[in-house]
Amino acid sequence: MSAKILDGKKLAEEVRAEVKKGVDAFVARHGRAPGLSVLLVGEDPASQVYTRNKEKMAKEVSMNGALYRLPLETTEAELLSWIDKLNRDDAVDGILVQLPLPKQIDSEKVLDAIDPKKDVDGFHPVNAGLLSSGRASLTPCTPRGCMKLLELAGAKLEGARAVVVGRSNIVGKPLAQLLLAKNATVTIAHSRTKDLAAVCREADILIAAVGKAEMIRGDFVKPGATVIDVGINRIDAPELGAGKTRLVCDVAYAEALTVAGAITPVPGGVGPLTIACLLENTLIAATARTSQ
Ligand code: GUN
Repeated sequence: MSAKILDGKKLAEEVRAEVKKGVDAFVARHGRAPGLSVLLVGEDPASQVYTRNKEKMAKEVSMNGALYRLPLETTEAELLSWIDKLNRDDAVDGILVQLPLPKQIDSEKVLDAIDPKKDVDGFHPVNAGLLSSGRASLTPCTPRGCMKLLELAGAKLEGARAVVVGRSNIVGKPLAQLLLAKNATVTIAHSRTKDLAAVCREADILIAAVGKAEMIRGDFVKPGATVIDVGINRIDAPELGAGKTRLVCDVAYAEALTVAGAITPVPGGVGPLTIACLLENTLIAATARTSQ
């Protein structure tokens, strides 16, 4: 048996096409495009690629996308003043501060300063609290992408056993809340869970977001389960030459492929959906802000 491969790239294109329709309707109604402002501090290579893509994709769906690149030595006060300016700018509907931030800046303080109504990452404690209270407003993008992939897989969530491996504020915790809201029975496991393999084997839906290369082996997967792999880990790859690295996921893909009912590929699984959901959040924020 070989699992159904969940094509996140195609699904993301469909989500973006829907967002574009919503943006066109927004422009017709309000005479301006929804605005997404992305702040990047420093020159982390991966963050540069992600933020450039966010700006580019925003423009592709006719949004007003802006990427502000700030120098590595930017102070916390300077970044807070940028956020204050964007909070007050009526043409800006969504603000995203790319993580990680340089060490002189307290990320919590910065994320807390974003107006919750413009918090398109869904990381503000107000939005995290609303999600936990079953009153979801703006919700984190990667977890939302996972939910869309589960829908694509045709996974039945009601009453299903869902195991989320990983407890980050960005993925694991909010995803557990989204699954709970769909009446799944949710377990949050993590790198220190005892007998992780046995816990995972109970899962009809298994989400790997632990950030440990190929930690989830084929024999962790219940036959027929839906497996979503969120992990991207850079590991040393001396076989490719001295100093070389390569990207490896959280799931040992070739092993899981023969056991799972459906599985995400990497690349082309969850990744493309994160930005599509960010654009969706920006449209949601713009619509909510203009209908107050
Ligand atoms: N860095 C890695 N993923 C993310 C994300 O989803 N949002 C932000 N702001 N930074 C990130």
